[in-house]
Amino acid sequence: MGKDVIVACDFSSKQEVMTFLDKFKNKKPFVKIGMELFYAEGPQIVREIKQRGHKIFLDLKLHDIPNTVKKSMAVLSRLDVDMCNLHAAGTKSMMQAAIEGLTRPDGTRPILIAVTQLTSTSQERMEEDLLIKEPIDKVVMHYAKCAKEAGLDGVVCSPLEAQKVHETCGKEFFTVTPGVRFADGEIGDQVRVTTPEKAKEIGSDYIVVGRPITQADDPVKAYERCLKEFCD
Ligand code: C5P
Repeated sequence: MGKDVIVACDFSSKQEVMTFLDKFKNKKPFVKIGMELFYAEGPQIVREIKQRGHKIFLDLKLHDIPNTVKKSMAVLSRLDVDMCNLHAAGTKSMMQAAIEGLTRPDGTRPILIAVTQLTSTSQERMEEDLLIKEPIDKVVMHYAKCAKEAGLDGVVCSPLEAQKVHETCGKEFFTVTPGVRFADGEIGDQVRVTTPEKAKEIGSDYIVVGRPITQADDPVKAYERCLKEFCD
């Protein structure tokens, strides 16, 4: 695995997501299913999209006591997803428990990545609300190191952090990066954005692209443009 475009299917119903995926005909993009769609439609939506031949990143960001996370990860693993995630803030023992839960009897498991600090968290909020006084980039790298030590495969991060994560945790440690926009496209509510081409240059392993594809006049063309810029 490695170097792919993951399409964020941020839709609120099965009907919307299926109408969107139908446009791709026999192309089968790697898709991200987030909380909105999962909570609206339940695990069946994962099975159905999987059955259509897509790889799935199930973005549910688990964060609870180790035993609960372990048991929940076992359920997600049986859904046969390809990638899932959790909050590194749950500590190394929670992350290790997650890996135990995810690992199937035959030893295989989905890729497991960690959210470090959410990109919506500012230095100021982290200091005042969470009482973490270190610089945010140091906190992000520390969480990434903890995730690696717990045996995880990578982190979700800003493309602008990908290079530093690779320097800290090694080239093999995956960086999955949202916040991608075409050079001539709208930024929307994302703040620190980069183009697919630049994300490739910086060394992202997977880019997560939502609205530049889902809201495009021609989503298939936009997806192919991402693939060309990022993977070629
Ligand atoms: O539409 P857009 O390309 O901004 O979608 C990006 C996707 O990546 C969304 O599903 C968003 O929730 C997710 N994401 C993000 N920033 C993070 C983590 C996840 O934009 N730090």
